[in-house]
Amino acid sequence: MIEYNESEFLVETEVPQDELIISRTDLSGNITYTNETFCDISGYHEEELLGRAHSIVRHPDMPSAAFEDLWSTIKAGKQWIGIVKNLRKDKGFYWVEAIVSGVYKKGELVEYKSLRTPISYETKLKYQRLYDKMRAENNERIRKVIYE
Ligand SMILES: Cc1cc2nc3c(=O)[nH]c(=O)nc-3n(C[C@H](O)[C@H](O)[C@H](O)COP(=O)(O)O)c2cc1C
Repeated sequence: MIEYNESEFLVETEVPQDELIISRTDLSGNITYTNETFCDISGYHEEELLGRAHSIVRHPDMPSAAFEDLWSTIKAGKQWIGIVKNLRKDKGFYWVEAIVSGVYKKGELVEYKSLRTPISYETKLKYQRLYDKMRAENNERIRKVIYE
């Protein structure tokens, strides 16, 4: 079991109301494009993200079932809408609502894209509790609080 020091995960970055966080991936989930807001909010430079697996921003609080659902939905050619807690480079976090779907050229699926917008405090609370419950039920790693 991986142990995380809770104190490293406490700083939230708020996504501004008027900004869209955009990224695209190849069909295997490797990042092919990020907009400036993605870089600002995640704390990475564009060069650090391009070519990397999108799980680079995966937060340990996210249950794997959420991403299994994402991938089966988009592979079926449908749009996935979900609430995601992401990990910043500095180990802080940010919450978004993500809309993930295919990018088509001449009718052929070539990439996937995700558009993300901010969510309310109430929604964050609701999903933090839900995801904690989902991880506990599936014996996924539990966050460990270490008081210094
Ligand atoms: C277009 C697109 C955007 C994605 N955005 C995120 C994201 O913001 N955060 C995240 O943790 N996973 C995102 N994913 C899912 C990741 O590819 C990956 O499945 C997830 O991070 C779980 O990592 P794992 O599959 O290595 O366990 C995205 C996938 C696609 C296709």
